[in-house]
Amino acid sequence: MALARMAGLMAGSPIAAAVAQIDPKPLSEHRRVLSLAEMQTAFDFEPVFFGNVLLPVYDYTAHGDGSEFTLRRNRQAFDWVDIVPVRAAIPPSQVDLSSELLGVKMKFPIIVAPTAAMVPLHPEGETGMFKASAAASNTLMMLSVNTSTPHAQVIAGAPGGTLWAQFYPLENLTNTQRSMDTFQNAGCNGIIVTIDQQSSFYERTQQDRNFGGRVAPGRATGTTAAALTGAARYRINGGRVWYTWQYIDAVRKMVKGPLVLKGILDPEDARLAIEHGADAIIVSNHGGRSMDYGPSSLEVLPEIAAAVNGRIPILFDSGIRRGTDIFKALALGANGVCLGRTTRWGLGAFGIAGAQRLIEMLQQELVQVAAACGCAKLPDINKTTVKTNLV
Ligand SMILES: Cc1cc2nc3c(=O)[nH]c(=O)nc-3n(C[C@H](O)[C@H](O)[C@H](O)COP(=O)(O)O)c2cc1C
Repeated sequence: MALARMAGLMAGSPIAAAVAQIDPKPLSEHRRVLSLAEMQTAFDFEPVFFGNVLLPVYDYTAHGDGSEFTLRRNRQAFDWVDIVPVRAAIPPSQVDLSSELLGVKMKFPIIVAPTAAMVPLHPEGETGMFKASAAASNTLMMLSVNTSTPHAQVIAGAPGGTLWAQFYPLENLTNTQRSMDTFQNAGCNGIIVTIDQQSSFYERTQQDRNFGGRVAPGRATGTTAAALTGAARYRINGGRVWYTWQYIDAVRKMVKGPLVLKGILDPEDARLAIEHGADAIIVSNHGGRSMDYGPSSLEVLPEIAAAVNGRIPILFDSGIRRGTDIFKALALGANGVCLGRTTRWGLGAFGIAGAQRLIEMLQQELVQVAAACGCAKLPDINKTTVKTNLV
């Protein structure tokens, strides 16, 4: 009896720790870890993921910048968009959400977002994630520059899959060219340049003493905050504040395939991105890890879509956990969405099979809501299918 109570307590603890992901989820009666076959929503994966990985790995994945207002706002914004079934429902079998994104055929408008260091989630790491995304109807995957597995090795894991490379600007153009050569020679045709996170120290786990955090620059060397000097002492990261549009012009010349700019939250930046040669943009606040008290990505999506006016594809991320979330983002102007944390939950919880199931679950949830709204094709999911109550 005492043992059963203890087991209940331990099984309950992941739920308590999983509060960063706002959503009602009363799993307090759990006495055992659910199996892959029992996963019903993306949220089911998170406590299993929590139980499998080291606490700092969980914290790194779950948290956001500062007070995490923007992290929560990313989720809450979806609550303020209603789905309006303007047409009669159709059978899911009549729904075909396929499209082409910059030469990549997509069965569903869903992409794996670049997230760093996946080997700590599961020994298969990025290669496992790529195998899973390729197995899930050939889902495009964006590989973080901070990958724990080299690009060529990841790409070899799933021949026939499509892998694009994400990159943070490097001030030195020779080093930039070297990185571009590495990505493109490995077979990554599309390049994503992430332009947010310029000065913030986004990982709360690295700065919050409740997480045992220290100031990030000293992490590797064990330097304490007190030993740091200048701006770094106050958590100001100078590493990325120099970004310019001229840099994007230089990168444009180095990229032979599609160039995607990630981290756009402003219509004027979207216009400039097009002017400076971007083939697509990602409306993203880095999953609430970039600048606390910035807007949720969903809130700014409609005005950015208006500014872009169909000239280039718009991708969207930050906060997507359900098929209805994807539907709303598509309706508000996105041509596709990227999944960040959820894919990490899938891989960390059940390895390749888990990541594949997670992606397929969201694909099918999207089909289901599209069917309920009578949307047989992607263009049917548009402004008329939602009502926004965002202020
Ligand atoms: C643990 C973690 C690591 C990330 N690493 C990167 C990265 O290396 N490069 C990048 O452009 N974005 C990175 N992101 C941001 C994601 O690409 C994406 O914008 C974000 O996760 C979307 O929000 P979501 O997690 O709510 O889906 C990371 C996100 C997380 C959660």
